[in-house]
Amino acid sequence: MATASDDTKTKTATKKSARAAGQKTAKPTAEARTKRSQAVAAKSKAKAAKPAVTDKGLADLFEHALADMYYAEKTIYKTLPKMIKAADHPDLIAALTAHREETAGQIETLEAIFELLGKRAKAVKCDAIDGILEEGESLLEDFGDSVAADAAIIFSCQAVEHYEITRYGSMRAFAEALGMDEAKTHLEGILAQESAADTKLTELAEDSVNDAAAEYDDHDA
Ligand SMILES: [Fe+2]
Repeated sequence: MATASDDTKTKTATKKSARAAGQKTAKPTAEARTKRSQAVAAKSKAKAAKPAVTDKGLADLFEHALADMYYAEKTIYKTLPKMIKAADHPDLIAALTAHREETAGQIETLEAIFELLGKRAKAVKCDAIDGILEEGESLLEDFGDSVAADAAIIFSCQAVEHYEITRYGSMRAFAEALGMDEAKTHLEGILAQESAADTKLTELAEDSVNDAAAEYDDHDA
């Protein structure tokens, strides 16, 4: 039975023997070339004629992202007390409390960026952060009274931090592309706080919380 590799070998052999006989590979005919250039021209004409669906640009996307994060920060600020109340490790309580204070400052920073744009601060409902926070609340219901409560809180809070890091990272790049130096500096400040909060949570989880939860876990490995 002929295999795919046999087929390839046959094709290669045919090409080789054609070359050896001084034959050139068939070039497209003049008719085929004309047809092809007509098709390319028609395609680019259709592209050029396509009307712009919207005149929105990067500045609009930046403003949308700002409203999105304004909503996210306000929602995080309201949700953090539930996490702080459920937390047990004093260092985790301290870290979350400190980050809530930072969050209040971030809300003000976002308001300052709206001001730079000459706009009033507005929050646009963000399904992504709502989903992450809802999951956090349901994790608290499932693990809040368990030995893994602190690990679950860190698990949820780091999802929030990473979401914020990705959004602020994009926004920083948007601000740079738009030549908004002051906004970019503000966003870099927030980004540094989110990254530091995330690092602190990783340290807490890896240095004490996870091991403590594992040690008192009832389950056998
Ligand atoms: Fe934040």
